[in-house]
Formats: sequence, structure tokens, C-alpha cells
Amino acid sequence: MTTVTKNEPSRRNFLKKSAVLGLGLSAAPMSTGAAHEGEKNNTGRGKLNEQSKKLIKLFGLKYPIFQAAPGGEELAVAIANAGAMGAVSLSWSSPEGAFDVVTRMNAATKGNFYANYVLHFDPVSLDAALEAGCPTVQFSWGLPSEAMVSKIRNAGARLGIQVSSKQGAQKALNLNPDFLIAQGLEAGGHIQATSPLVHAMQEVLELAGDVPVIASGGISTGHDIRDAIDAGASAAILGTRFMATRESNGHAVYKNALVGAGDNATTYTNCFNRDWDATHRVLRNDTFLNWEAEGCPTKGKKPGEDDIVATHPQMGATARYSIMYPVKGHEGTLEDLAMYAGQGAKNIMDLPSAGDLIKRLWSEFENG
Ligand SMILES: Cc1cc2nc3c(=O)[nH]c(=O)nc-3n(C[C@H](O)[C@H](O)[C@H](O)COP(=O)(O)O)c2cc1C
Repeated sequence: MTTVTKNEPSRRNFLKKSAVLGLGLSAAPMSTGAAHEGEKNNTGRGKLNEQSKKLIKLFGLKYPIFQAAPGGEELAVAIANAGAMGAVSLSWSSPEGAFDVVTRMNAATKGNFYANYVLHFDPVSLDAALEAGCPTVQFSWGLPSEAMVSKIRNAGARLGIQVSSKQGAQKALNLNPDFLIAQGLEAGGHIQATSPLVHAMQEVLELAGDVPVIASGGISTGHDIRDAIDAGASAAILGTRFMATRESNGHAVYKNALVGAGDNATTYTNCFNRDWDATHRVLRNDTFLNWEAEGCPTKGKKPGEDDIVATHPQMGATARYSIMYPVKGHEGTLEDLAMYAGQGAKNIMDLPSAGDLIKRLWSEFENG
């Protein structure tokens, strides 16, 4: 491991810099007339349920496949234009940045994308995103206030909320969302879930009624998507699998680490908590293993805590335990940064284009 220098990036600087991670792209009205490949080609097991058909129609999709928040604009456009649902992370964007991202996304797609906000951070760019015509807004790690929901509804946008339990589902359903996401502990990145996906899904489905539930966590193949849909989900969200594509904004070091990561590659931890103390799943790298070897010490006592292990032309210095993952343009000992990965990483063997990956996922879904 290389320690480059010591520096103390402030939280505000971190937030400013992280906006670069959320680079996204557009605001044409949502297309609802796309051919539904998923619906058309299905027979037997893996057949789409009625809820799933309704969901893909609602969002103008060919496939019941959603990108999770990360990956950047280029990936979101590629996924949306391949007939799935793209996503941009706007949690750390300035209002101007979010306006531009949404404007570009609307121009480059048919509006089949959503903006994600992690509600542990103030969604300062929500108004700007809606003003730019953001078609769908999705929240995780909290519930939007009634004022936020009114703004979204007044702008004619759709609303999604991530939950992971019966209690969470009940509170979210009181806000009349268009869809819920049920996240399981298998997920990569930050994990609000406290039980495996199958349990989270069961609890959420029990209450959801007509509201579509999208399964999230550890899904990386078409077989996984089929299992989720057979279990009652209307669609599946893939985070880690889409990070390992040509278009994602992940640095090559991170993408290559995902390929062939193996069965026991990830860990559920709060190790990378410099900027946000929350549980997450990452690849077990040297930063994690050295911290674990010292007994998982708390903030202030962590080994190499102030090391700056990477720098980025726009984001500047990134400290060892930062929540930032290695993105294109980073330089340094990138394998020491948080490399988020869900348990489905065990199935990642290549770095295809997003379009090729979606075709492959669908063929696996259909053909077993
Ligand atoms: C690199 C990375 C970054 C993530 N960033 C966010 C985020 O900004 N907001 C959020 O709600 N979830 C975030 N997540 C979690 C995803 O939304 C989703 O729950 C997870 O990727 C699903 O599990 P999977 O990675 O096994 O597919 C992130 C996940 C990864 C892998």
C-alpha cells in the first residue's frame, strides 16, 4: 500500500467533489410505446407477471431491468437506449450540475431513467432536477418529506422509494409511490437492508398490493432476474454487474477487480466511513484487511486513517476510508479505495458493453 500524503478533506469539499461521481445526462416525455421484448418472448418459467408487464409499459422499457444509482451518465444512456431503465446519482450534485445532467439525459434517451437521492444527505438539487424535467425520482436511506413528494407530483414526475422491511414499506406506501425497491443484504454499495433479499421481498410484497416491487441486491445474471420475478418482483435492479461494463465510470482497476472476484470476495462492513458512517458491502482489499487485523478500530484509531491514497483532476485528494469508489481519472493506489461489490460479483467474468450485457441477461432469463 502506498501512502501519498496527508490531507484532511472537509466534508463540504468531499460533497462538492463527489458531485463528479454523479455525472449523469435529458427531459422528453416518457415513451410508453416501446416493444416489450420481455413480454413478447416469454414462455413457461420466467414468464413476466402482470405487474411486471405494467411496469415496463409505464416506463417505456423493453426489459424489466433497472440500473442502480452508480455508474455515471454514459452508462445510464447506454442502458436506457438498450431498452432498460437508466439511473443517475444526484445525491451530491449542485443544482446547476443536476439541471445539466437531467437535460442531457432527456436529450439522449426517451426519458427512461431516474435520479437517485440518498436522503442521509440534503437533496439540494431536487428542485433543479425537476425543473429540468426529471421524469422519475427515487429515494433511498430515508423517506421524502410530504413537501418533496408534492414537488415531484406537481412536476408530473414519478416516485420510487427503497425499503427493506415491512415497517419501511408501510411508511413508504403512505406516500403513494409508483414503485418500491426492496433491497437485500447481498447488495453492493451502501446497505440499508437488514435481511437477505428473499426476506426483504417477502415482507415488502405482503403490503405492496398493486405497487410494483423491484428486487435489489446480489442480482448479476438472467437466472437471478428470473428468480426475483418468479418470487413476485416486477423488475430487478443491478448495481455491481453494470459497474463492470465498458461504459461505467468505474476506474479500470476497480472494474478488473470485479472480474473473477470469486465466491468470498465481498464483505459487509462499516470500514469505509470517513464521510458517511453507514454499512456497506465492498471487495475485501488491503485497507479492509489491515483494519480488520487491528480489531476494526473506530474513527480516530484506524490504521493509515489520514493517508491520501488517490487523487483526481476534478475531485482532488481521496483519503483511505473515503466512501468514494475509484473512477476514471483517479491516480494512486486505487485498489486501496472502497470497491463496492454485491455478492453477485462472483458471476462477473468480463467487461461487456451495457447493450451486450442486457441482451445476454435477457437470453439467460428466457432460456434458463
Ligand atoms: C458502486 C456503487 C455505488 C452505489 N451508490 C449508491 C448511491 O449513490 N445511492 C444508492 O441509493 N445506492 C447506491 N448503491 C447501492 C445500489 O443502489 C443497489 O442497492 C445495489 O447496487 C444493488 O446490489 P448489487 O450491487 O448487488 O446489484 C451503490 C452500489 C454500488 C455497487
